Amino acid sequence: MNRYLLFACSFAILLMADNSLIFAGENLDELRLPTGTMEITAPAHSQTKRSPVIFPHSTHFQFACKSCHHEWNQVGPVEGCAASGCHEKLWALPPGSTPLRDQNIKSLTGAYHEVCRDCHRKQLEKAKESGDSKQRFPVTGPIACDGCHPANPIPIESSDTFLEIPIGPLTITAPEGSDPKRSPVDFPHAEHFNYACQTCHHDWDGISPVQNCTVSGCHDQLEPDESTKNINDPRNSKYFLAAYHKACIKCHLDLQQQSKKLEESGVLDDNKLPKYGPVACINCHLGN
Ligand code: HEC
Ligand code: HEC
Ligand code: HEC
Ligand code: HEC
Ligand code: HEC
Ligand code: HEC
Repeated sequence: MNRYLLFACSFAILLMADNSLIFAGENLDELRLPTGTMEITAPAHSQTKRSPVIFPHSTHFQFACKSCHHEWNQVGPVEGCAASGCHEKLWALPPGSTPLRDQNIKSLTGAYHEVCRDCHRKQLEKAKESGDSKQRFPVTGPIACDGCHPANPIPIESSDTFLEIPIGPLTITAPEGSDPKRSPVDFPHAEHFNYACQTCHHDWDGISPVQNCTVSGCHDQLEPDESTKNINDPRNSKYFLAAYHKACIKCHLDLQQQSKKLEESGVLDDNKLPKYGPVACINCHLGN
């Protein structure tokens, strides 16, 4: 394709991205992610019947953030569930008394029970189906009332441990000591927050600082194995190029293929086709 056209396209995309940033208003450079255990309580002044719920946030980072923060735009602040315009009411109002525009918004109690308990049930079913519901590690969270609302709650202090998560774009460079042939890659980190963090940070425990991919002991090999350049060969699992290309390109390619298949089957609405990232060298290594 014509170089100028490519340039014009990416410029247009930049402009569009810039605009959406303006509309979104308060974009962050970094997200402060609470990594400890929190106590979820009903909003102040509400009449409550049950004890507050102890919620280990980071135990849940194996799931995409959006499985709970469903309205989050991935680059701005995360709103609390009871924020204005969201699940403000503790209970559903009697039928007929809810203004039309709010009718699709669940009560806070309804939302929590649906999201928390339904997922715990689903995970238990999955574990039963795969036959490992009795393994050593918990496969699911509480389903019974007193599992979440214990009769004799131990008071906890909501933990104040945080991790700073860069929103990006991050510039990924070849590790020190290598002899790079391509330009560094601009990686829009937050555009990937609709996946679970562990899709990429596969050894992260949800609490400790996140390690760089190329730290010593991880993908720190600077050259392919002498016997093979194949990035899928286990002998290259520590080779940094293999790790990045396997993670980045494979996912983009898979999604591109899904998109093509759907298109061939007659789906023409762009919004219904899966979006994917660059698959051509030049669209990641922007300079050369
Ligand atoms: C997976 C965890 C979970 C389970 C299981 C669960 N709840 Fe809840 N429940 C919550 C959360 C979170 C809230 C919102 C925080 C709050 O209000 O304490 C809540 C809120 C409530 C409230 C409104 C607040 C209050 O204290 O009056 C009631 C009542 C309640 N739950 C009753 C129950 C009953 C009864 C059961 C069993 C049938 C149950 N819950 C099971 C998590 C759970
Ligand atoms: C299983 C559900 C769940 C998942 C998954 C989850 N969170 Fe949360 N998160 C919560 C709940 C519940 C709260 C407390 C909300 C409240 O107090 O209203 C919370 C609070 C937060 C807050 C603080 C919001 C505030 O009010 O200051 C941030 C920031 C946050 N989450 C970010 C994330 C990010 C980023 C991810 C993905 C790595 C994530 N969460 C995954 C349920 C979840
Ligand atoms: C998308 C699925 C999912 C959602 C949503 C979810 N959970 Fe869980 N929860 C799990 C799984 C899976 C585990 C077991 C994980 C583990 O211990 O490794 C778990 C574990 C727990 C535990 C027990 C942790 C422990 O250390 O034993 C509690 C308490 C809990 N969840 C509360 C909640 C509350 C409260 C909510 C809603 C705010 C919630 N969960 C939403 C999947 C979910
Ligand atoms: C989805 C994004 C993406 C695509 C597409 C991609 N790469 Fe990469 N590539 C990376 C990342 C990330 C790294 C690690 C950072 C770095 O070294 O620049 C990397 C590293 C490399 C390296 C090792 C470092 C260097 O500069 O010598 C080479 C060589 C390379 N890529 C060549 C290619 C070639 C050839 C193609 C097309 C067949 C390609 N890449 C397509 C993301 C991509
Ligand atoms: C699609 C892959 C991908 C996903 C999904 C992803 N990240 Fe990253 N993240 C990266 C890459 C690549 C880097 C840059 C690492 C490097 O330079 O080696 C990075 C960097 C980071 C860093 C900075 C590490 C440092 O070196 O200081 C943190 C913290 C982080 N990610 C946390 C998260 C969290 C939390 C989530 C989930 C909300 C997440 N990431 C989702 C790929 C991803
Ligand atoms: C699990 C799937 C997945 C992985 C892994 C992944 N990506 Fe992506 N990437 C996507 C999707 C989906 C999009 C399209 C997002 C959109 O348009 O909303 C995307 C978009 C991009 C874009 C284009 C963003 C834009 O604004 O046009 C770049 C650049 C990119 N990814 C680079 C990378 C790099 C570098 C890595 C590896 C460190 C990586 N991706 C890993 C799924 C993935």
